[in-house]
Amino acid sequence: MGSEIEDTAGIDRTWWKEAVVYQIYPRSFKDSNGDGVGDISGIIEKVEYLDALGIDVVWLCPVYDSPNADNGYDIRDYRSIMDEMGTMADWERLLAALHDRDIRLVMDLVVNHTSDEHEWFRKSRRGEDGYEDYYHWVEGDPDQPPNNWESYFGGPAWSYDETREAWYLHLFDEKQPDLNWRNPDVRADVYEMVDWWLQNGIDGFRMDVINLLSKPEGYPDGEIEGYPTGREHFVNGPRIHEYLRELYEETYANYDVMTVGEMVDLDVETANAYLGEDGDGLDMVFHFDHTFIDFGPDGRWDIGEWSVSDFEEIFTEWQTGLDETSWDGLYWENHDQPRVVSRFGDDEQYRYESTTMLATLLFGLRGTPYVYQGQEIGMTNADFESLEAVRDVDTRRPIEIMLEEGEIDSYQQIRDVVNYRSRDHARTPMQWSDGENAGFTDGDPWIKVNDNYTEINVESARSADRSVWWYYRELIDLREDEQTLVYGEYDLLDVPDPVYAFTRTLGDDELLVVLNWSDQEQSSSLSIEDGTLLVGNYSGIETTLSETLRPYEARIYRL
Ligand code: GLC
Ligand code: CA
Repeated sequence: MGSEIEDTAGIDRTWWKEAVVYQIYPRSFKDSNGDGVGDISGIIEKVEYLDALGIDVVWLCPVYDSPNADNGYDIRDYRSIMDEMGTMADWERLLAALHDRDIRLVMDLVVNHTSDEHEWFRKSRRGEDGYEDYYHWVEGDPDQPPNNWESYFGGPAWSYDETREAWYLHLFDEKQPDLNWRNPDVRADVYEMVDWWLQNGIDGFRMDVINLLSKPEGYPDGEIEGYPTGREHFVNGPRIHEYLRELYEETYANYDVMTVGEMVDLDVETANAYLGEDGDGLDMVFHFDHTFIDFGPDGRWDIGEWSVSDFEEIFTEWQTGLDETSWDGLYWENHDQPRVVSRFGDDEQYRYESTTMLATLLFGLRGTPYVYQGQEIGMTNADFESLEAVRDVDTRRPIEIMLEEGEIDSYQQIRDVVNYRSRDHARTPMQWSDGENAGFTDGDPWIKVNDNYTEINVESARSADRSVWWYYRELIDLREDEQTLVYGEYDLLDVPDPVYAFTRTLGDDELLVVLNWSDQEQSSSLSIEDGTLLVGNYSGIETTLSETLRPYEARIYRL
């Protein structure tokens, strides 16, 4: 949970509440040896860059040994580094390089499932003594899965294993069998591994799909239709609080680290049960409410309408609904989400303005902001011309199923939706420069580089007078200076959409965040005479809030 920083304003200051986290997807960040795959040495080359940006914590996506069915989220060995990423010695160098610059390192913790190539699964599939119940096995007719549960990646959540002659559960890919947390030996092994990483000096964990750990005995059929069937049984399952509390007590309760739980289908009330004083020792959560906003009637492979008031409603619910001691993880992007400017902004005419408006909102809310690699330069979605260009298992698999079932006749029919939604948009290589392959690699990149790298890249953003990068830099500084931005209470102001305005108050200090979430000029409808402008994405703004906000204009004032 972490130590408290000296209390200066009558609040309990906590480092991870004040931190800005930067997420690295190592495969796509920087390749150091020309094999087309990003690696740990590549990250080390960029530590100085991270320091210049001013972030406090790095969340590193999985670098553990893995056959990469799901790019490292299928772990074969928790205690060694994937060959493509480097070695344990490289990892130690990275940790030291980050710590030298006062940047903390948070590792990804994937313990809902392992790879089917993990030693535990190999033993379990052979029914080896002591390992029989490490996973969820059900015997029965090889043509009839034990129940109707579905995988998050599409298709049934069960596969039949010929060796064991039984079905095993996988809520994700068939190469990601779910661990059986009902088995105390599994839990003990996991805790030992977690503690081992903590002893290695890391500063916390991002916990992958952590509210899926508990599955009910008997594996009852799902009754509720939807994505995916069975979720009322395995999301926040019957023993989830017990498991998380035990994990906490056995491991990170003893360290000054931060934890953030990725939680699917999470509402505010349930979040409060996990977090804060009466929670399970978890510091903050990622919820998904604002990422479902643009799903169509047919779900995620359908594009739906959204409005600014939908966002206001969701953010306000979370900002006001979390208990005093609960804490939120704020994000627009991560390795599973498309690029936010292409999604909720305008990646053509107003790329700068809309990216910075969205950033102002992210940093204006109460919680810890997470910035995903490339977000700080306003990277956009790419065009995946063919299914061959798509790498993500969670894009390929659903499309293969649609093709098989005749829902679509060709990839071209779904290409627009892929170009809108696929996880691969986050995974195109980081755009460092206008050089070959965006300066990501000297070799052939494992996934296509976005064509716009000659225009959108770190080098040009940093050398420009005005750029998304500099704006992020400013917001990061601002958040460091302004405790009200971290701890202040949130109050929504009643102004007509598409203007979104709210205040943040801490004691006598009051900040105003005001955004025009549209490509048209809008009246702010606020009659605030004098305030001090702290940040804004247009130049030449007065200290008073003029009536008209320009397209995607965003400002933060001290009132
Ligand atoms: C989480 C990860 C995602 C992964 C899945 C299975 O949602 O963020 O990338 O595919 O869990 O581990
Ligand atoms: Ca490499």
